Amino acid sequence: MNLWHPDTRVVAGGRPPRVPGSPVSPPIVPTSTYQADGPVGYARHGNPSVADVEAVIGDLEGGRALTFSSGMAAAAAILDDLPLGTRVLTGEVTYNGVYQRMGELAQRGIITVQRTDLTADPSDVLASLTGPVDLLWCETPSNPLVEVIDVPALVAALRPVSALRVVVDSTLGGPLRQQPLTWGADVVLHSATKALAGHSDVLLGALIVPAGESGDATWAAISRRRVLSGGMPSPFDAWLTLRGMRTLALRTDRMEQTAQILTARLRADPRVMRVRYPGFGSVLAIEPRTDGAGADALVNALRLWWNATSLGGVESLAERRRRWPDEPAAVPEALIRLSVGIEHPADLWSDLDQALTVAVPR
Ligand SMILES: Cc1ncc(COP(=O)(O)O)c(C=O)c1O
Repeated sequence: MNLWHPDTRVVAGGRPPRVPGSPVSPPIVPTSTYQADGPVGYARHGNPSVADVEAVIGDLEGGRALTFSSGMAAAAAILDDLPLGTRVLTGEVTYNGVYQRMGELAQRGIITVQRTDLTADPSDVLASLTGPVDLLWCETPSNPLVEVIDVPALVAALRPVSALRVVVDSTLGGPLRQQPLTWGADVVLHSATKALAGHSDVLLGALIVPAGESGDATWAAISRRRVLSGGMPSPFDAWLTLRGMRTLALRTDRMEQTAQILTARLRADPRVMRVRYPGFGSVLAIEPRTDGAGADALVNALRLWWNATSLGGVESLAERRRRWPDEPAAVPEALIRLSVGIEHPADLWSDLDQALTVAVPR
């Protein structure tokens, strides 16, 4: 099966055995318990519908996947298990939930967190270190600043001086554009709530570890965390995620093409001061020439785009991130994150154009 392209494997994987009369699509198996003496005894330990989606996510990432009830539950399976005194190195701005959770653990004296610009030259990152690092947490592209970290270069610079473990939150990049295990990551994280599930109707998270022996210890630790924290996703959400993933390749291509078209238009538009877009993916961030209130007026003037949080769904969303009081202050007040969906690019542009006119009068 690995001889096939990822676009094919995302369609062909996680299906029932090919025997006469078999259903082509996998069933949903809602059960909380099982007849004794089988491979799984209780649903907090495992479920066939969950295993189906894990098989496909693991295959796309080139490792083994475990799924969780949300991306944050997946992040917590790592963060909440860190030994006392773990020194974490991470970016200045990461996804707000992870940012907050790390802050809480640091405040309680469990971990220390050094936040630095991980997009800088690795030698500058190295020079900025205040001490050894146990865990490097990279989010690339980052949310909401859409900045890209050169993870292989950073890992090559840091590993000789620190016996560090590397986690890459690959939610914005997605498995069809980047495979962080090939960069030396020990764990890859996805909020499958976003582009993997793709239809804004599911909460699901995933952790992927290397398939070989090197992933065994992490696998055992995160499996145990999932059982003990009750982080299993529901069979229905797992099934819906796999259902959504069948079109991942089509959605990824379409959304990225439209994001590129919109980026070009926005970059040429005098009403917009700055457009952040890494050249791939479906998420960009704009800073219109206005303040926070003006940016609020802009998102409220949209008729096709929804003024809503989240990203990676088929419908386009726009959000002024600083509307959340605990969003890191390094995020500009008027920054609007755009998650580009699969609608016609011309309709998305004309809606943005009219809303920009409302917020930034010519
Ligand atoms: C980059 C990133 N990581 C993790 C998460 C958390 O995922 P969830 O909302 O599924 O808990 C999000 C959610 O927005 C995210 O954008």
